[in-house]
Amino acid sequence: MDPFDLVIRGGTVVTASELFHADLGIRDGRIAAIGEELPAGREELDAHGLLVLPGGVDSHCHIEQLSAAGLVNADTFETATASAALGGTTTVIPFVAQHVGTSLAAAAEDYHRRAERGAIVDYALHLILADPRPEILKEELPPLVRAGHASLKVFLTYDRLKIDDEQLLDVLEAARTHGLMVCVHAENHGMIRWMGRRLVERGFTAPRYHVPSHPRIGEVEGIHRAIACAALLDQPIMIFHVSTAEGAAVIHRARGEGRKVWGETCTQYLTLTSADLDRPGIEGAKWICSPPLREPADQEALWWALEVGTLQCVSSDHAPYRMDETGKLAKGPNPSFKEIANGIPGLELRLPVLFDAMVSRGRLGLCRFVELTATAPAKIYGLHPKKGTIAPGSDADLALWDAERVVTIEDAPRTDRAGYTPYGGRTVKGWPRHVLLRGRPIVRDGKLEGTPGQGRFLPRQGGRAALPTGRPAPEFDPAQNFGARLW
Ligand code: URP
Ligand code: ZN
Ligand code: ZN
Repeated sequence: MDPFDLVIRGGTVVTASELFHADLGIRDGRIAAIGEELPAGREELDAHGLLVLPGGVDSHCHIEQLSAAGLVNADTFETATASAALGGTTTVIPFVAQHVGTSLAAAAEDYHRRAERGAIVDYALHLILADPRPEILKEELPPLVRAGHASLKVFLTYDRLKIDDEQLLDVLEAARTHGLMVCVHAENHGMIRWMGRRLVERGFTAPRYHVPSHPRIGEVEGIHRAIACAALLDQPIMIFHVSTAEGAAVIHRARGEGRKVWGETCTQYLTLTSADLDRPGIEGAKWICSPPLREPADQEALWWALEVGTLQCVSSDHAPYRMDETGKLAKGPNPSFKEIANGIPGLELRLPVLFDAMVSRGRLGLCRFVELTATAPAKIYGLHPKKGTIAPGSDADLALWDAERVVTIEDAPRTDRAGYTPYGGRTVKGWPRHVLLRGRPIVRDGKLEGTPGQGRFLPRQGGRAALPTGRPAPEFDPAQNFGARLW
């Protein structure tokens, strides 16, 4: 047998279920052996004193994306995935963003071209359907599914992205036919518009009023409606970026009733609060994202929801906009909260900030950290066991982690092009030292070595075979009164 291409020696291997001392033997980009005292490889990487984690899987990040308002995220596939790599993330799932009146297939081609040119880590793509007209669902979607796309995102809010209930049902039906996961931005659009108008009319325009303009009850309503529509068709859905205790409770109850609903929250909802927007002048704009940051009690509820399995993933929802005329200040130097682009950067610091919260500070612990940030998203989105775990045959995507390193995050630009980080000034314990993609270091001693274009597209199969019966779901037939039986 040929020697291993690389042996990672002496580390503590961590998966979602266990932690043990072992060497890893890597051949052809995959994990070929896990054991003690493996024979010498062509190359060796010393992991004594380090944790050997699966590379992170960030299943919700906006990269080089054109927003419906015509703004493009601050970063490119190159800078975003460089920042992902530096933070220990080796797989990302950003978006193909269709806009109203445009072709989904053309958008997919465009995003594939950009990703192929720039990506330093591997990637799959969610398809955003802003305009699910019949020809998109019937003619454009099937070839995209055959090309390896297995998840969609729809929005219940944002003026030029939102779809109504009937369109949502059309999307859910198409997803059911092809076995796709439907991810939902679930907030009540009318409530957001109505509250925003009232606040601005009364002169409450500062960034902090973004928070009450997205009422908590609007998230509850959106999540409930999305789950109800999905239940009518018995179609799995993922509720993205859950921010409130009540929103998590809706998912908790629905799962208890057997609904096929999954839930995600994000680093920022666990570690930042609405108080972060409460700063002089326009500064608070840096913390404007949707749903907005909430309260300490919500953080506690979200941690609990992760602990008991109501929510299964923690992503970054990375959506960077600069604090200038290309981003947050596109409508002038002193915009009202309604005119400020929504989104904050987070790809690079997701794992360090969460490791500190979950492991160094003792919430949930190492195995759950791995599960929530790598294994579960890989499973839910059809990338496991290639990604998200350390096992024979899996891609050798690894983050060699120094659990003792203490870092104070500078209040300064990072690798993405946002020009700021919402986590500046925070001190965290635990930091990635080396990061490997398919057995090759892309970060060594904290320095980027990966090159743009080395990231590969990860085609996925639709999940029909994964339905609980093990058989493909039958076509939805309203004549069977399927929905009525469920309700
Ligand atoms: O504020 C956010 N999260 N912007 C990105 C788009 C979205 O809603 O996920
Ligand atoms: Zn969203
Ligand atoms: Zn998002």
